[in-house]
Amino acid sequence: MKGWILHLPWDDKPEDPYSIVRFREEAQKDGIELDVFRPEVFDLMVTREDRKSILVEGDAKELPTFLMPRMGAQTTYFSLAVIRHLERLGVHTVNSSVAIDTVKDKLYSQQILAENNLPVPRTILVKFPINADMVEKYLGFPVIIKTIYGAQGKGVFLADDRNQFLDMMQLIEVTNNKANIILQEYIEESRGRDLRVVTIGGRSVACMQRIANEGFKANFSQGGRVEPFQMTPEIEYLASSASRLMGLDIAGVDLLFDREGRFKVCEVNSAPGFKGLEEACEINIPKEIFHYIRIRLGQIRR
Ligand SMILES: Nc1ncnc2c1ncn2[C@@H]1O[C@H](COP(=O)(O)OP(=O)(O)O)[C@@H](O)[C@H]1O
Ligand SMILES: [Mg+2]
Repeated sequence: MKGWILHLPWDDKPEDPYSIVRFREEAQKDGIELDVFRPEVFDLMVTREDRKSILVEGDAKELPTFLMPRMGAQTTYFSLAVIRHLERLGVHTVNSSVAIDTVKDKLYSQQILAENNLPVPRTILVKFPINADMVEKYLGFPVIIKTIYGAQGKGVFLADDRNQFLDMMQLIEVTNNKANIILQEYIEESRGRDLRVVTIGGRSVACMQRIANEGFKANFSQGGRVEPFQMTPEIEYLASSASRLMGLDIAGVDLLFDREGRFKVCEVNSAPGFKGLEEACEINIPKEIFHYIRIRLGQIRR
């Protein structure tokens, strides 16, 4: 079996990212021939004749059995076009282009979750001029400010009060008033901690708690620590439902701690990192993913 991973270049770093090292390791054990490409090496030629190959740096290359895009929120139009092209040529894609595109947009994915009755923080799309009274009435202060396409905690800001909120909005308005920003109810109970659940094929396979060293953001990439967290039926149900609603084969679901031991779905990621998760929990993520792909392809080995 042949698989391709689509990944952003990491030329600036001396070593391969953890996820790539792990995918390669497990692919080798499983007899999978795995190649990693950055989207830019592909030339998309749309024709009805050749449907067995694709141009890679100008040369026709035989199609793989499966494709695993790993660019998450950084999936550009070009990358998405590459994924769609391979899908159209019949390559089994985990995750699909539609699902990746859906979760890239934090507002759109919240709309789908809310439509399906899953608990989410109340969320408003920003428009200028800002109506601070409305924000105060419906979300209150402190309030969370987020870019729609952010990742790794980089586009998330907490405004403590009305003045700080207005200052931040002014800064955004003069810098780029076309930026797509959402405002979100601040879930106080979750300050500096949250849960990350990874789902494969809609099944919750591992859960960890992420705890920030300082500040309110619990992302592992922001320097927090992680520990295993006992999966409850509620956690399992929320994460599985969220990933299925998004149509994701593989997902990283962020859950916020709410009052009275409840949870709210913070966001869903299409290419979750799993270094922290494999450290915290006894789980082999690439192995589980390859196993799932084989099941989907009807190639299960015993
Ligand atoms: N509404 C919220 N209330 C409280 N904390 C939040 C809220 N939204 C996000 N956070 C915190 O900020 C972190 C990053 O937010 P998230 O929406 O997951 O963005 P990213 O895509 O950058 O990970 C979350 O893991 C959580 O710790
Ligand atoms: Mg997140």
